[in-house]
Amino acid sequence: MFVPGLIARKRDGGALSAEEWRGLVAAVADGGLPEYQLSALLMAVYFRGLTPDETAALTDAMCASGARLAFGPAAPPRLDKHSTGGVGDKVSLVLAPIVSALGVWVPMMSGRGLGHTGGTLDKLESIPGFRTGLTLAEATAQVERIGCALFGQTAEIAPADRRMYAMRDATSTVECIPLIASSIMSKKLAEGLSGLVLDVKTGSGAFLPDADRGLDLAQTMIALGAARGCPTVALVTAMDRPLGRACGNALEVEEAIHALRGEGPDDLMRVTEALAAEMLVLAGRCATAADAVAACRAVVASGAAARQFQRIIEAQGGNPAVVDDPAALPQAHAVALFRAPRRGVVARVDPRRVGQGVIALGGGRAKVDDRIDPTVGFVISAKPGDLVDARQPLATVFARDDDGLAIGLAALAEALTVADEAPVALPLVSHRVTTTGVEVLGNGTGGD
Ligand code: URA
Repeated sequence: MFVPGLIARKRDGGALSAEEWRGLVAAVADGGLPEYQLSALLMAVYFRGLTPDETAALTDAMCASGARLAFGPAAPPRLDKHSTGGVGDKVSLVLAPIVSALGVWVPMMSGRGLGHTGGTLDKLESIPGFRTGLTLAEATAQVERIGCALFGQTAEIAPADRRMYAMRDATSTVECIPLIASSIMSKKLAEGLSGLVLDVKTGSGAFLPDADRGLDLAQTMIALGAARGCPTVALVTAMDRPLGRACGNALEVEEAIHALRGEGPDDLMRVTEALAAEMLVLAGRCATAADAVAACRAVVASGAAARQFQRIIEAQGGNPAVVDDPAALPQAHAVALFRAPRRGVVARVDPRRVGQGVIALGGGRAKVDDRIDPTVGFVISAKPGDLVDARQPLATVFARDDDGLAIGLAALAEALTVADEAPVALPLVSHRVTTTGVEVLGNGTGGD
């Protein structure tokens, strides 16, 4: 394999064969491809893109570079949900217990915070003792025993993607649809799933803020899943404001617990139910989305969903008492209210600025090895469109100390705008994408 020739062909707009992608990925996985060649190749792909055949070959090669979760032929359907990343997005923490309490297995491999967005693993690790670093064998056994495991990408799964992703992060080649699609799908396909639901975020707080690019990514991943026996459906959901009220690790776990007890904020519940319904229909557990939403509500109302979260926490070494008493989660030392600067309408709650504010408070990472403070963040009660009086409390800052409070209040002063009128918010769930096409569900009232 003459790598400079392959890089040149990609640079000049040509395509590589499946065999050439297999060779390259094998060399990435075993460390045989020098980083300067990998970075040049990634930049060539970033500018030239990949054909559908190349995207498929890269996905298959990355998936085959590691192990897969293996379930027996009599195992119940296995479904997962993947979000492209948001602020206040604690859907996984609510959805996984609900869906698995309904008898569908959920082997959920999640990530850490990326850029301004939070990560499910960081949130879970705010539960005292919770261990996300399961081996594949542990994750498989736990799914077989209690129907769900919430774990991180192990060294065994798609190791080529791990290296390639780190290099993309360092070479500004992350925002490339075929590279994102192959990276995500290579890991999801390794989970041994019977189906996958994607939550593609759109709006200013999304990695791909433009709706058309989000749809393109969704369609690329759906095609990859469908061709590999993993039926995949995507919902496009709003990220022009944070989801729910809490933004910050332990604060989001607390909100998720309230949601599992039937006291979740409306927007969080609607997105969670919409995604869970797709999973339950794909799994054959419910005939229609309406039946599935009713089943989700029943399993929350009966307490079974909250009990399932307790079981998952206990199985992974965490303190299950947090579900009955969220005060057992780590608590911030300093708390302050953020008040409306004037009377008017909340025109904007900028999710990107809120996410950056959580990082500035110590609740995310500026560098890979930064330690996270699980206690810090915001609870923002104001939503775009709300009428507010001057000095009315709009949010609470949770910080380590007074300096943190000042940082948090300054972030909120930039993120929250009160004006005479508010722009139309994005619909909460705007599109449903399947192999058959794109269905428009909402058209821009924010409240549909
Ligand atoms: N998440 C992934 O796993 N890969 C990407 O490329 C982007 C987000």
